[in-house]
Amino acid sequence: MSSVNLGVEIGGIRLKNPIMPASGTFGNGEEFAGIQGMDLSALGALVTKGTTLEPRAGNPQPRIRETASGMINFIGLANPGVKAFIEEKLPFMAQFETPIIVNVSGFTLNEYVRMAELLDQVPSVAGLEINISCPNVEGGRIPFGSDAQIAANVIRAVRRATKLPLIVKLTPNVTDIVPIAKAVVDVGANAISMINTVRAAFIDRGKIIQGGLSGPAIKPIALCLINQVSQAVNVPIIGMGGISTLQDIFDFFQVGASAVAIGTANFKNPLVMMALIDQLEKYCLEHGLANIDQVKARIKGGKG
Ligand SMILES: Cc1cc2nc3c(=O)[nH]c(=O)nc-3n(C[C@H](O)[C@H](O)[C@H](O)COP(=O)(O)O)c2cc1C
Repeated sequence: MSSVNLGVEIGGIRLKNPIMPASGTFGNGEEFAGIQGMDLSALGALVTKGTTLEPRAGNPQPRIRETASGMINFIGLANPGVKAFIEEKLPFMAQFETPIIVNVSGFTLNEYVRMAELLDQVPSVAGLEINISCPNVEGGRIPFGSDAQIAANVIRAVRRATKLPLIVKLTPNVTDIVPIAKAVVDVGANAISMINTVRAAFIDRGKIIQGGLSGPAIKPIALCLINQVSQAVNVPIIGMGGISTLQDIFDFFQVGASAVAIGTANFKNPLVMMALIDQLEKYCLEHGLANIDQVKARIKGGKG
């Protein structure tokens, strides 16, 4: 038994360490579980891929393009729909002693509410990550998360539909993220996760394809926005955006993240989360640190 306690609490969910996959980059864990050296019970949480009320085939190919220091994805939330997810995917994830956070995406307010009601009845679900970056089809296809009032309407309605901890995932594609973060916390968000991908485009054989940029290219944007939000709200933040090293994690702690999610880096090295958990524990042992608060105190003292 290690003398280091890497545990953190995020909006009422106890995690054994602060490292988890970012939604959409880890499937629902099944493919990763088959990789030698991968142990899903070692992760802080299992975060599902984007789940919607109805099944979605997603967008036509190409859906992914590598860029300088990152990638653009245009997946379009391909998934089997929440009912099939609960029946066919969740039982596999529930066999590990790791909290399951279901990423909920919707295109109308009612879709978010229906999904929250359904997932509220499922005992293996530890919490919901509400992805408000999706376009609001009843509101001119403007993403829910780009307006404080609309974002608050969604989270208020979801809050009434479930007692599960709510982690609200913010989009960076806004002029000022602070009022949006404050608005969702005011109506009951228990935690914030950020950032989702940054709006971007690539050209495929003369066609312009719009998607979301992720990877090391967006890390400075994530640090800047998390720094702003962490000073404005009083709930924990799960930070993400280009993390692939222990130093990246420390940088996210420095700006106020309480936990981190690893996305694009999983495509380069599917064992990167395992390596980072190991490195974090070794770092604590080497420096005589007993817990994450002590790690943060050391980093903030300039000794990261
Ligand atoms: C291929 C791909 C699929 C994604 N799908 C989702 C999704 O379904 N729901 C969601 O909230 N975020 C989704 N994201 C965003 C990531 O969870 C994460 O916020 C973003 O990629 C930044 O982290 P990273 O730079 O470590 O990848 C996706 C990202 C990628 C690259």
